[in-house]
Amino acid sequence: MKLERLPPVVSSLKASNHPYLNGAWTPLLEEMNAFDLDVIEGRIPDDIDGVYLRNTENQVHQPLGRYHPFDGDAMLHRISFRDGRADYRNRFVRTRCFQAEQEAGGSLWGGLADPPALSKRPGFGAHGSLKDNASTDVVVHAGLALATFYQCGEGYRVDASSLETLGPDCWVPLDGISAHPKLDPATGELMFFNYSKHAPHLHYGVVDRDNRLTTYMPIPLAGPRLPHDMAFTEHYAILNDMPMFWDAELLKRGVHAVRLHKGLPSRFAIVPRHGGAVRWFEAAPTYVLHWVNAYEQGDEIVLDGYFQEEPEPKPRAGAPPGYEHMMAYLDEYSFKPKLHRWRFNMRDGTTKEERLDDAILEFGSIDRRVAGRRYRYAYSTLAEPGWFLFNGFARNDLETGLRSEYRLAPGRFASEAPFVPRAGSREEDDGYLVSFVTDENTGTSECILLDARRIEDGPVARIALPHKICSGTHACWAERRELRS
Ligand SMILES: [Fe+2]
Repeated sequence: MKLERLPPVVSSLKASNHPYLNGAWTPLLEEMNAFDLDVIEGRIPDDIDGVYLRNTENQVHQPLGRYHPFDGDAMLHRISFRDGRADYRNRFVRTRCFQAEQEAGGSLWGGLADPPALSKRPGFGAHGSLKDNASTDVVVHAGLALATFYQCGEGYRVDASSLETLGPDCWVPLDGISAHPKLDPATGELMFFNYSKHAPHLHYGVVDRDNRLTTYMPIPLAGPRLPHDMAFTEHYAILNDMPMFWDAELLKRGVHAVRLHKGLPSRFAIVPRHGGAVRWFEAAPTYVLHWVNAYEQGDEIVLDGYFQEEPEPKPRAGAPPGYEHMMAYLDEYSFKPKLHRWRFNMRDGTTKEERLDDAILEFGSIDRRVAGRRYRYAYSTLAEPGWFLFNGFARNDLETGLRSEYRLAPGRFASEAPFVPRAGSREEDDGYLVSFVTDENTGTSECILLDARRIEDGPVARIALPHKICSGTHACWAERRELRS
């Protein structure tokens, strides 16, 4: 392995006992390139050719208030596979806010858990006072990576090979772009949404494969909402209005307190992909962070996602004082997300629901060749009880109802694991799952590849990374041919 280190960034972060600034969530401040990575076990498959991009949250400066892990600065990590070899690099996403804080030498914005008055400058996000850190999600569209912020930010384009930040994209509306824009690999289109405190509160848009905005339409809601993800089928986009949102009375006083509005249903907007009349459907109240896939079947639109049984969990006993609420909302074993199916009947307007699995699962992926189309396999991560950390993977066969699992050894934590198709394969599920693993026992990180059809067998390859990375939220896989050269 050959290494190149970059000059250090300016940091004012002090050591603390914050639960999400230590252990697997210790911010990484170092940027480097590493070539020809060492294999720890197995061998790197020679039938994959592309990049795994991982977005992580690395707080660079001393927080002004109560740090929330979603406040961290975005760092993209890229491992590139070709001809049975792998290279790695990592870079901060140099957003306007990151650069402003580099120049100031300290934090300029408070975070999600802070009062807006703490921010020293006007901020971003539906919240309005946050740092647009682009640290939530990453996709590849029109040849470039796009890093996005869950609260709606400017949408930062990054060269997926060099990881150089190119800047906010020109088509991003004033209300920004939420995390989880959705790429349809069949058309190259990117579907996206944003949400805001002001009417109409929700917009939906489409950018074509050449990066031109072709659709942008309002989807009026009754008030500010907090959708996190969207889904699509071949002909429709699916947006949501879940009954988990800021308390309206507290919001008038500038307090952003999320609560479950128990008397309200979950609502789903089904929109023709390129715009048109919205059809609304209702279902049992819940909150859903992530959808898995959706497709059309006869008169129905089928949508799979993770239904939260306890969207408003009780504060976590034993958490550090002031963090009881945050720790509960970051713990899947508190909010209990379960694989669930909604069926929307386009003929009679009814909704049917069914639970697909009773296990606690979230952060799903699919073989993207069946994105928006009828599919059979859903891959999820397994959570570490008490923490926003993943300790394994699950594969659900939605035809047989069978689930297989691979759980990591204690102290080893994974990242979101997208599906990587094997070169030349045509069948769904013929490929690998790719993930980064941080080992708290050794203080190291590695990349692992699992055979998607036999995840229970464990990794087919373990590849050493040159440093211990911080945890984060989302990741993606892109084929080499999808990248702009
Ligand atoms: Fe997300």
